[in-house]
Amino acid sequence: MSYQGKTIVVVGATGQVAQPIATKLAEHNTVIGAARFKDAAKRAALEAAGVRCVEIDLASGDLSQLPRESDVVLNFAVAKSNDWILDMDAAVGGTSALMEQVQGTGAVLHCSSTAVYKPMGHHVFAEDGPLGDNHGVWEFLRTYSTAKIAAEAAARYGSRRYNLPTTIARLSVPYGNGGGWPAIHLEMLRNGSAIPVHVDAPSVYHPIHDDDIFAMIPGLVAAASIGATTINWGGKDPVSVEEWVGYLAELCGRELTFAPTTQTIDSVMVDLTKLHTLVGPTTVDWREGMAAMVAARRPEMLKG
Ligand SMILES: NC(=O)c1ccc[n+]([C@@H]2O[C@H](COP(=O)([O-])OP(=O)(O)OC[C@H]3O[C@@H](n4cnc5c(N)ncnc54)[C@H](OP(=O)(O)O)[C@@H]3O)[C@@H](O)[C@H]2O)c1
Repeated sequence: MSYQGKTIVVVGATGQVAQPIATKLAEHNTVIGAARFKDAAKRAALEAAGVRCVEIDLASGDLSQLPRESDVVLNFAVAKSNDWILDMDAAVGGTSALMEQVQGTGAVLHCSSTAVYKPMGHHVFAEDGPLGDNHGVWEFLRTYSTAKIAAEAAARYGSRRYNLPTTIARLSVPYGNGGGWPAIHLEMLRNGSAIPVHVDAPSVYHPIHDDDIFAMIPGLVAAASIGATTINWGGKDPVSVEEWVGYLAELCGRELTFAPTTQTIDSVMVDLTKLHTLVGPTTVDWREGMAAMVAARRPEMLKG
């Protein structure tokens, strides 16, 4: 069941994952969207949907513009400047300052990533699994895994320090009409580019559609606890890049080439027992979700 009549703060409101969430929540709730709003068009779209936009910079540590009290805070922000100091300041200082500023809220959902897990081939990670520099292999995202691990620790600290019920949800591969990694693959198919996959084939994740992400938020928030409840957050089916790109190529009648390499991220399969017990499984079939994504983004590519 979705929220109605709540006051909800969405941090990182212009992002791929959060923008559709903030937009949809604003239909029945008071939504405050926070970001630096680097892209004015995104701010305008959020405002048109009824989101009150508040400019913040997590790296500055000053978040006094955000309300101390609300029903829920959803933190989907992530700094990806690739500058170590800036990104760590936004992750650690920013998350700590956020928890302090919103200490009167009912609960915090801190979105993390399965990119916090140490690359271990086809290992299936439970929430107590080993952490490591998963995304460091991608030079353009060299700070990402380290910053996400550090931000989780700041969220746990803030939860204990301010007695703030918190859930840390480690998201796998989000996708939908607004974009995501499969949408990038769709563009690569369109350009005839070879698709990088890890040499330790297949490259398996748990793609999760935007509709499931939206539907699962109240359940994730309800699982919040002091000190933070950590939950893997992904689609119920493990699906490989090879499988989903193969399916996209079939839908579009495109030639497909893979480029196996060690210079891309390895599989991250996750144990979803905790998610299924506390929240339930996802409901969008990955083939249907990806077909809808193609129809929304590149209808001209669909065969027939
Ligand atoms: N996309 C994926 O494939 C994926 C996979 C797993 C997990 N996740 C997680 O899902 C969440 C959302 O990811 P996303 O892909 O939607 O991210 P995104 O598209 O890069 O959006 C990031 C958001 O954070 C804001 N932001 C960045 N630096 C900021 C700063 N210094 N101060 C305030 N706001 C700042 C950005 O807005 P401004 O630039 O305007 O400030 C934007 O709203 C993150 O926690 C991410 O780690 C994503």
